[in-house]
Amino acid sequence: MIIMIRLETISFHQQLVITPPESGLSLQGTVHIPGDKSISHRALMLGAIAEGETVIEGLLLGEDPRSTAACFSAMGAEISELNSTEVRVRGIGLGNLREPNTILDAGNSGTTMRLMMGLLASHPDRFFTVTGDNSLRSRPMSRVVKPLQEMGAQIWGRDNAALAPLAIQGQQLKAMHYHSPIASAQVKSCILLAGLMADGKTTVTEPALSRDHSERMLKAFGANLEIDHETNSVTIEPHPVLKGQKVIVPGDISSAAFWMVAAAIVPDSDLTIENVGINPTRTGIIEAMQLMGADMTLEDPREVAGEPVADLRVQYSQLKGCVIGGEIIPRLIDEIPILAVAACFAEGTTIIKDAAELRVKESDRLAVMAMELSKMGANIVEHPDGLEITGGAPLTGTEADSHTDHRIAMSLAIAALNAHGETKIHRAEAASISYPTFVETLMDVCEIE
Ligand code: S3P
Repeated sequence: MIIMIRLETISFHQQLVITPPESGLSLQGTVHIPGDKSISHRALMLGAIAEGETVIEGLLLGEDPRSTAACFSAMGAEISELNSTEVRVRGIGLGNLREPNTILDAGNSGTTMRLMMGLLASHPDRFFTVTGDNSLRSRPMSRVVKPLQEMGAQIWGRDNAALAPLAIQGQQLKAMHYHSPIASAQVKSCILLAGLMADGKTTVTEPALSRDHSERMLKAFGANLEIDHETNSVTIEPHPVLKGQKVIVPGDISSAAFWMVAAAIVPDSDLTIENVGINPTRTGIIEAMQLMGADMTLEDPREVAGEPVADLRVQYSQLKGCVIGGEIIPRLIDEIPILAVAACFAEGTTIIKDAAELRVKESDRLAVMAMELSKMGANIVEHPDGLEITGGAPLTGTEADSHTDHRIAMSLAIAALNAHGETKIHRAEAASISYPTFVETLMDVCEIE
């Protein structure tokens, strides 16, 4: 499929050019998605602070986990060359992160920076500086800095330590019960990781349940956690002996989402997505697509190394609009850009609300999706906390831009499959943050009718 989809390099950036054939196209076959980004970060981090060896199978080879690996290597963990077959991490034991003699660079990765901060703040007598790329340096860090300061952390940075670069002087932290104002796995995980070395039990309560990969993996490594499902609270006991483990990373449901929507909106498509992580704190996208009338079946559900996994078959069907808001939002937070694309091809209006968090992701995803899909002809209205999209307006190929956000680049590529004429997506290399083989797979599954 080289003619219809091509990558061009223009002044150090990649431009993805997609021209659907007049005769039509469909998506067929089996897709192997890359490893889960959230689980990959956690496997590297816990492997680094555990005793002994952690072996990671299926690690995501995207830029974000590479940032995590580089940071923890700089602090003394021995991490073998990254590949998706087997990565070996020789941990240095809890409390033993070495003071790096340079700045820790989290790149584009909010998860790297926020989770790592919990560990850095709790290492007494060590000094750390952390930074990231343009996008990460503009994202709010006060959501982790404030609770860490309440635990006794010393952190400095721009705007009262709200923005990276940040400097951290590690301390003996005090335990606390933190009531997070937002449902955020990054905030929850940061505080739990800080709690590993606090002077008592640390509890985090969140307003709605966010992804629970940290809780699952901390337990597997030997930490003692109590989970109260009624109040969305997690309590961690300090000073566990963390022991290296074998971690098998399931496929990332957030990456699978692009194929779910692509197969659902492109007529005659029939795709099977293999090895998709279906942890219930992540399956909001499946529920939302089913609510929209998507033809999806979960095949061979199974449990792999403590995480539920299944294959997912998706066939084309006419979608209908729906309302998405409330507790489901944290369970599909990263899939909202691609859901917006699905809504463009649904009958009626789709309302996405309670999603203001999208404004502080790798880009302002509400503004960017509204802007880029409007350019293509979509009927889309931006609200402070969401989007309102009336489906059925035909999309036309245009000059679009990823705004250096991986999920925007890939969402626009899927929209382009169903647009008339050529779409050019500028700065498409952003996809490599979470899905380095996205374009290759796109070429593989597209068939001319
Ligand atoms: C992540 C949590 C989510 C998500 C991000 C990864 C994680 O962020 O958007 O891509 O791995 O913990 P928040 O927890 O801030 O919502």
